Amino acid sequence: MNACSHAPQSDATRAAAEAYLGSWDRDGMDWDRWMEEVERARATFAHLIGAEPADVAVAASVSQATSSVASGLDYAGERRRVLVSGAEFPTVAHVWLAQGRFGAAVARVPVRDGVVALEDYEAALDERTLVVSACHGYYQDGFKQDIPAIAALAHAHGALLYVDAYQTLGTAPFDAPASGADFVAAGCLKYLMGIPGIAFVWVRPGLAERLRPALTGWFGRREPFAFDAERLDWAEGARRLDLGTPPVLEAYIARAGMEWLREVGLEAIGAWNRALGARLIEGGQERGFRLLGTDDPDRKAPSTAFACEDGHAVEAALRERGVLASARGPAIRLAPHFYSSLEDVDRALDALSEVLGGGEA
Ligand SMILES: Cc1ncc(COP(=O)(O)O)c(C=O)c1O
Repeated sequence: MNACSHAPQSDATRAAAEAYLGSWDRDGMDWDRWMEEVERARATFAHLIGAEPADVAVAASVSQATSSVASGLDYAGERRRVLVSGAEFPTVAHVWLAQGRFGAAVARVPVRDGVVALEDYEAALDERTLVVSACHGYYQDGFKQDIPAIAALAHAHGALLYVDAYQTLGTAPFDAPASGADFVAAGCLKYLMGIPGIAFVWVRPGLAERLRPALTGWFGRREPFAFDAERLDWAEGARRLDLGTPPVLEAYIARAGMEWLREVGLEAIGAWNRALGARLIEGGQERGFRLLGTDDPDRKAPSTAFACEDGHAVEAALRERGVLASARGPAIRLAPHFYSSLEDVDRALDALSEVLGGGEA
């Protein structure tokens, strides 16, 4: 019930980790093979979001991916406003705030009643807006923002749209090019079934050429292995956002996790996650819990949050009862995924009912 925080280990991801450890042990060093594996992970991520590998950069975290993009934009002109949704995971907001030093003027679009209203984006947008940063799924309560609608608003004002899709990728189909977003980032340790240490960012074709990331490294060059320390050139496409030696072990595992999702099929996963989400909402209401955010299963990721006084205490009490949930301040999140059953959801809700004493604790 904690897929919004960390995926469980699977046979496939364990075997992938062992493949790397075996290669390292047997061969000592096999950079060609290992770099191939990084490329396969890049391509698998691209495929998952309906994109081309050339439009995907490999990062170590969403924080770094966001910093790479943000450091590539220019805040010197009139157009230097950055609109950050109040639903962003703090790290994303931090990255945009840090661009203030280079001239970015950061404004916030508020969360009201657990959601961000389209009207609030509309009211905040103007011709000085350079970029809007709007996550797809809200980490607190699973609320899914309407990315095509936000993209249309942003583009109508000449602004770009940056989307952190960490809380939704892997839960249902998502077509990055069709979404209207200009950038889509996600890490692998939640619904993509992987581990920390690797993340990806997709850049709309043709847009990467506008970026001159101050956060850079040798893998962002046209020919990293030319070892030319005197020239700063930019690799084609999103590769210019690549940084240093890529996360190899993590790439092995990331690919295995994403390939599993591909085999099961994101359509089927999306339909089942909707059923799990609906069961959580209804089951929570029946047991008298206070739901945070929307009660519309079509507008949320499977992650569902209920109010409580001390999320950490509730998480610990649930763990004692064999349920792994995830605390976020005064909320407890239950986040099943495609491997969960309706019985798992009911069992988690019953355990929560016991912990909360039949109401909000
Ligand atoms: C939506 C979202 N974005 C970003 C992060 C953090 O990203 P990273 O630790 O890879 O920088 C998280 C959670 O860990 C998250 O839920």
